[in-house]
Amino acid sequence: MSLAAGMRVSKSVPAISYISVLLLYFSFYTITPVSSKSLQDDFIKCLHRNTYVEFPLKKTFFTPDRNASIFDDVLESTAQNLRYLTNSVPKPVFIFTPVHESHVQASIICSKKLRLHLRVRSGGHDYEGLSYVSQIETPFILMDLSKLRQINVDIEENSAWVQAGATVGELYYRIAEKSKVHGFPAGLCSSLGIGGHITGGAYGSLMRKFGLAGDNVLDAKIVDANGKLLDRSSMGEDVFWAIRGGGGASFGIILAWKIRLVPVPETLTVFTVTKTLEQDAGHKILSKWQRVADKVVEELFIRVFFRVLVGENGNKTVATSYIGQFLGEKGTLIEVMNKDFPELGLTQEDCTEISWIESVVSNAGFPQRSPIEVLLQAKSPLRKEYFKAKSDFINEVIPTLGLKGMFKRLLEEEASFMIWTPYGGMMSTIPESEIPFPHRNGTIFMTNYYTGWSETENEKSANKHIKWIRDLYGYMMPYVSSNPRQAYVNYRDLDLGVNKKSTKLSFKESQVWGAKYFKNNFNRLVKIKTKFDPENFFRHEQSIPLYLSRS
Ligand SMILES: Cc1cc2nc3c(=O)[nH]c(=O)nc-3n(C[C@H](O)[C@H](O)[C@H](O)COP(=O)(O)OP(=O)(O)OC[C@H]3O[C@@H](n4cnc5c(N)ncnc54)[C@H](O)[C@@H]3O)c2cc1C
Ligand SMILES: *[C@@H]1O[C@H](CO)[C@@H](O)[C@H](O)[C@H]1NC(C)=O
Ligand SMILES: *[C@@H]1O[C@H](CO)[C@@H](O)[C@H](O)[C@H]1NC(C)=O
Ligand SMILES: *[C@@H]1O[C@H](CO)[C@@H](O)[C@H](O)[C@H]1NC(C)=O
Repeated sequence: MSLAAGMRVSKSVPAISYISVLLLYFSFYTITPVSSKSLQDDFIKCLHRNTYVEFPLKKTFFTPDRNASIFDDVLESTAQNLRYLTNSVPKPVFIFTPVHESHVQASIICSKKLRLHLRVRSGGHDYEGLSYVSQIETPFILMDLSKLRQINVDIEENSAWVQAGATVGELYYRIAEKSKVHGFPAGLCSSLGIGGHITGGAYGSLMRKFGLAGDNVLDAKIVDANGKLLDRSSMGEDVFWAIRGGGGASFGIILAWKIRLVPVPETLTVFTVTKTLEQDAGHKILSKWQRVADKVVEELFIRVFFRVLVGENGNKTVATSYIGQFLGEKGTLIEVMNKDFPELGLTQEDCTEISWIESVVSNAGFPQRSPIEVLLQAKSPLRKEYFKAKSDFINEVIPTLGLKGMFKRLLEEEASFMIWTPYGGMMSTIPESEIPFPHRNGTIFMTNYYTGWSETENEKSANKHIKWIRDLYGYMMPYVSSNPRQAYVNYRDLDLGVNKKSTKLSFKESQVWGAKYFKNNFNRLVKIKTKFDPENFFRHEQSIPLYLSRS
């Protein structure tokens, strides 16, 4: 995610931790005298009994026993947060990549039968690695849906069916292939998996005009805890409500979403205007942005991106970039800006007119003038890093004094950045209970705090970065939403609280983080969960809990 040079996880293990890994291995060995190979063999046998559709073993099953390097490649392939790939983090006993929907159904039946905890991954962007690591259950297996990525766009019907393993980049490309004036309001990073992404709501640059991706879902195919395949009418409106924003992997496995396309103009205008701290002395521009960003016409979406710049002699500043997208032509945009936000000083020269699909490419961070086919490559241009990130919602303009302290803290962490995303427009008109995502009217903007680092495993330095972001989060408290202090579930943050082992789930404890993500919708999510998945098959560190503690 940073602009820093990319890197892979080092596979070499320092001597000390190698010994501890060995010890760990032997202590596990005495408890569970089964190899991952034999667990996998049992699973495969069970699959054969539960599906008629072939699965070529070599291409669908990966275990460290057979070939550790291929296993690592598959595990790392879409995993975004390198923190959850280090040697000390638990690994799945094997990875299964289904090639047919019935394999997903059979996998649920078989993991239940063999008591294997199941994690499911679509695009691998979970901030806390929940789609490929379980820190609370052993053994666990990983079902990776990357081979289920079909997209069928129906322009006539103004809709599309998209399988869970497809990326948003592929979806945008397939839409643009058929029409220049259709789009979809999902996320900005092209490698996001449609499967996990929409389960948390999913916002992007069209949100002020059309709402979230979750607001534009027409139907879904899911597999429940009994391996049954359901669509909207057979799952019922409660479950259909819960899966559009209630967070991933709590209710079932999404096989595909049916989405409603939205109209986009043939010409959009984009701009980026950057001001250093010195150029915005007194924070006049940033303060004005806070007063207008959620109130300007809903065709205009101006994000603010903050990052630290370091000069040759070690002097530092924060660069604040106003990254705009306008659903219309340059001339109209300049009129709007002169009226509502003249402080930014936007000029014709700052603006570029492009098509919607070109704006998708630039929002995703690809270099200018990249061919739109880059959207079909599985990887985004953002580098993978070790990272920790958090989110907040802001309902009142942050005063200058608050901004001062915020910038002071940013300057202390060179690898940090922050993104402010404006709300308002369509987002304010949708009731909080329409889908589980509750951050609606009254929100001025959402902020994403991020710190990333690329050195290999070194707990001391990792802790330094994590402490920095927690301190910043603490500092921001007086300036952000309260009672509850809200957070975006797609920016999963385990600092907010976790479920203990499955047998000790407590509804009371989870209410703390549940309300942050879902406000009053949390209670309804718990009710639906209790009815739909009473055995709590779909569970993780922050899955929706059952009403009753089963301890
Ligand atoms: C670089 C980056 C950029 C981002 N940009 C945006 C953005 O612009 N807008 C935005 O809204 N969010 C953004 N996010 C957050 C993103 O929406 C979430 O991380 C989302 O959960 C990713 O979905 P995924 O399928 O890629 O992730 P995964 O890690 O595969 O899954 C996330 C969660 O959903 C579960 N899950 C996965 N597939 C399924 C399925 N088929 N059925 C049920 N549960 C499933 C997983 O088990 C996990 O708990 C970004 C994240 C990153 C790392
Ligand atoms: C594992 O797979 C890689 C890549 O296909 C191959 O180069 C290597 O020889 C294999 N190793 C073993 C032990 O089979
Ligand atoms: C550092 O100082 C030099 C000289 O005063 C200046 O030109 C440069 O813009 C500064 N860089 C940063 C990142 O502040
Ligand atoms: C949003 O909230 C404000 C202030 O409470 C209220 O005046 C306005 O009518 C609300 N807007 C919508 C669309 O509900």
